Amino acid sequence: MHYDFISRLNHWIIAIAIIGMLLFGLYLEYGGLEREARRPLIGVHRSVGVLVLIYGAWRVAWRVMRGFPEPVSTMPRWQHRLSKWVHWSLLSGILIMPLSGIGFTIFRGRDVSVFGWFSIPGVAEVPWIVAMSSAIHQYVGLGLCTIVVLHIAAALKHHLIDRDPTLTRMISGRAFPASDGSVSSDNQ
Ligand code: HEM
Ligand code: HEM
Repeated sequence: MHYDFISRLNHWIIAIAIIGMLLFGLYLEYGGLEREARRPLIGVHRSVGVLVLIYGAWRVAWRVMRGFPEPVSTMPRWQHRLSKWVHWSLLSGILIMPLSGIGFTIFRGRDVSVFGWFSIPGVAEVPWIVAMSSAIHQYVGLGLCTIVVLHIAAALKHHLIDRDPTLTRMISGRAFPASDGSVSSDNQ
């Protein structure tokens, strides 16, 4: 089964955005920035995060509506299960990260301005929601870093060790037959 153009475009746009935002967030938190230098960068992090939520909601909805294309390689059942779990965790992370970021900002009574174009207004302070969403942003963020590394390692393993068309299909859309001819898939 081939990978349609919209799915591939969505995958790569959000992949770059999520990797960028994870690195950006870690830099904000552990980069040793001065308070003054950190403040405008947090504004950019928040604005991009809201845009990621908007595009990500459409990306996740598209996947849920269309279902996942069948894998192009035969693999042990545990690997198939693990890949399903990883894909659903990644999809959840696309929504949980920006939502928790917005949560701990607006429930502290602060507006989230998106590059000054529009803003999500702050609401009355609710300390337990702030504490909970801040912890989610931190721990889900760190968990997502681990899962993304696992996901990239799996893609490289398919490409370099198994030599199957999993990665090339995500790039070109087509599932070329593997060198041993073990893959049966259409070529549209
Ligand atoms: C795709 C979306 C997002 C990703 C992947 C992401 C990722 C991260 C990560 C990994 C950190 C470091 C966390 C830590 O280890 O403590 C962080 C920090 C932070 N994020 Fe995000 N973030 C996203 C969206 C947002 C949004 C939408 C907001 C607010 C509206 C936000 C506000 C913040 C703030 C203020 C920090 C600094 C740490 C803090 O004050 O607790 N993030 N982000
Ligand atoms: C350089 C980084 C990345 C590479 C090389 C890569 C590669 C791939 C490949 C080859 C597939 C197809 C798997 C299959 O056919 O079963 C895939 C699927 C997927 N990837 Fe990535 N990926 C990367 C980054 C990311 C990131 C950061 C996310 C998280 C947002 C992500 C989320 C997904 C999801 C949810 C799927 C399942 C199918 C879909 O919904 O599009 N990927 N990835």
